[in-house]
Amino acid sequence: MQKEQPVLVEVKNLRKFFPVRRGTFGFTKKFVRAVDDLSFTVFRGETLGLVGESGSGKTTTGRLLLRGYAPTAGEILYHLPDVGTMNITTLPKKELWEFRKHAQMIFQDPYSSLNPRMTVRDIIAEPLVATKSAKGEEVSQRVIETAKRCQLSIEHLRRYPHAFSGGQRQRIGIARALVLRPSFIVCDEPVSALDVSIQAQILNLLKDLQAEFGLTYLFIAHDLSVVEHICNRVGVMYLGNLVELAATQELFQHPLHPYTEALMSSIPEADPKVKMRPIKLSGEIPSPIDPPSGCAFHPRCQYAQALCAESRPEWREISPNHFVACHFAESLQLKGFIG
Ligand SMILES: Nc1ncnc2c1ncn2[C@@H]1O[C@H](COP(=O)(O)OP(=O)(O)O)[C@@H](O)[C@H]1O
Ligand SMILES: [Mg+2]
Repeated sequence: MQKEQPVLVEVKNLRKFFPVRRGTFGFTKKFVRAVDDLSFTVFRGETLGLVGESGSGKTTTGRLLLRGYAPTAGEILYHLPDVGTMNITTLPKKELWEFRKHAQMIFQDPYSSLNPRMTVRDIIAEPLVATKSAKGEEVSQRVIETAKRCQLSIEHLRRYPHAFSGGQRQRIGIARALVLRPSFIVCDEPVSALDVSIQAQILNLLKDLQAEFGLTYLFIAHDLSVVEHICNRVGVMYLGNLVELAATQELFQHPLHPYTEALMSSIPEADPKVKMRPIKLSGEIPSPIDPPSGCAFHPRCQYAQALCAESRPEWREISPNHFVACHFAESLQLKGFIG
């Protein structure tokens, strides 16, 4: 992706802290720092990947971008074609409906995200009705048109979601997100719950829809193997913030952050003759209630030095469009993934 590409979403110093229930001694109120000082931009028409272990703040980021949550601090700006700039950080409730026409979400779990008591037709129609974007016959027309585009047939529309397989349910979820013809869709691990054989079909559908409707995606995944083929750029998240961001190929060939290297070393190798030696990430991801000092990754980093526990590394552009937050990014020789 080139720098001069128009920006669709601008995220500045975004924070989301969730209060934790008071403990036995309950004097201090603690917070889960789910997203902590996050800044990035999404270019119009691109697919930006967001990867990181479970608990790193990916879903919270996705929800913040759609104003599913109000941010604790920071700013989110949308530069929408034909509409102009919309600052959604402090959008009043009645204007949220207007914003929802432009940005939608596809969920990880196609089983729990669809209301079992609604027909497929009503599920897909819901955003149109809720935002008063269409009435009567027009609703039906738009539902049929969108369902077809997502490879669902008209007979499917009368049924209930339980009658469908995982892949079909995800098509319903995609149709619901698409029916308002948004500019931006957050895809939160859209294929993680699906069989491998179905994953490629859903990814191809997302790609086709992007080309046809000029969509921009934020594509969330917990491992790097899925994002390689669908994303133009990839951001790697750790404990509520990005540690690295670059064009996909650049990231895979020249990772600059030890956490990215560790994630890459665990991608399954297609050629069984190539020996895999995954870098072991010791322990669980630390708690975002009391994140480690300095670089949050330092307790698990095999290259860590004293400085890493002391000061937080600055987020900086090391080569054009390649951003990283590591004190030693210039001197480490990290191993990429040659798939
Ligand atoms: N509604 C919530 N209330 C309290 N804590 C939350 C809430 N949502 C997420 N968290 C916490 O925030 C952190 C990030 O969660 P999440 O954004 O779901 O991560 P990911 O999607 O990367 O797995 C986790 O520690 C999680 O437990
Ligand atoms: Mg998640």
